[in-house]
Amino acid sequence: MTDLNQKIADTSATLARIAADFSPAVFASSLAAEDMVLTDLILKAKLNIGIFSLETGRLHKETLDMLERVKQHYDGYEITLYRPQTEAVAGYVAQHGLNAFYDSVEMRRECCRIRKVEPLGRALAGNKAWVTGQRRAQSTTRAELHVQEDDPAHGMTKFNPLADWSEQDVWDYLRNNGVPYNALHDQGYPSIGCEPCTRAVQPGEDVRAGRWWWENPDSKECGLHMVDGKLIRIKSVAA
Ligand code: ADX
Ligand code: SF4
Repeated sequence: MTDLNQKIADTSATLARIAADFSPAVFASSLAAEDMVLTDLILKAKLNIGIFSLETGRLHKETLDMLERVKQHYDGYEITLYRPQTEAVAGYVAQHGLNAFYDSVEMRRECCRIRKVEPLGRALAGNKAWVTGQRRAQSTTRAELHVQEDDPAHGMTKFNPLADWSEQDVWDYLRNNGVPYNALHDQGYPSIGCEPCTRAVQPGEDVRAGRWWWENPDSKECGLHMVDGKLIRIKSVAA
């Protein structure tokens, strides 16, 4: 078996185990490349893992287009959307301005809290586990990522089935399997978040260099994967 085939087999086994032993479980998809690998594996195997996206209200058109492309490719499958609370967004904009996240890490985290973290809490409520597309090689903040972790903040188990996949693995999988992917990836965007907080990178630049590019690399997490301002990589369980 090639290295990639082994990783696909391991990841499929992890996903099947989640569906069997951690039901109800959900997968958080940002509709970027990694998440399309997991979407393809989950939907082709018809696994009982719901897929949702946090529709922050600031996503690129190309990202929103993925919702329809997924629907067409996977037999009408509809990704569930969670949106921020209207009053919270209106309050932030009225008090600080629409793009106050450029002003400080604090203002940026507050916007992410309103548009991503609070909706994530609603998306995860009532589940036994959640799944993400994070990989170790993505950033210094993810170097210690495990396939299976305790997530005390959400009171459930968290799975990162692609933890040991390389960027090349992701693209080989997508191309070999004809999986639809966000058009921005072909325009210099290896990592995609909200439109005002993501830009294209130059060849050779770090894959996350275009995310919150005005911030220090160590602060570049949106809060989806943090508790009390700290990354949660405390306890791991062998997969
Ligand atoms: S982030 O923390 O910097 O925003 P990144 O874009 O690398 O995260 O995505 C890492 C994982 O977080 C994704 O694979 C996905 O599981 C989850 N995620 C990020 N953004 C979203 C989103 N808008 N909706 C759902 N899940 C998301
Ligand atoms: Fe707000 Fe930018 Fe965070 Fe999106 S990534 S929620 S626009 S600060």
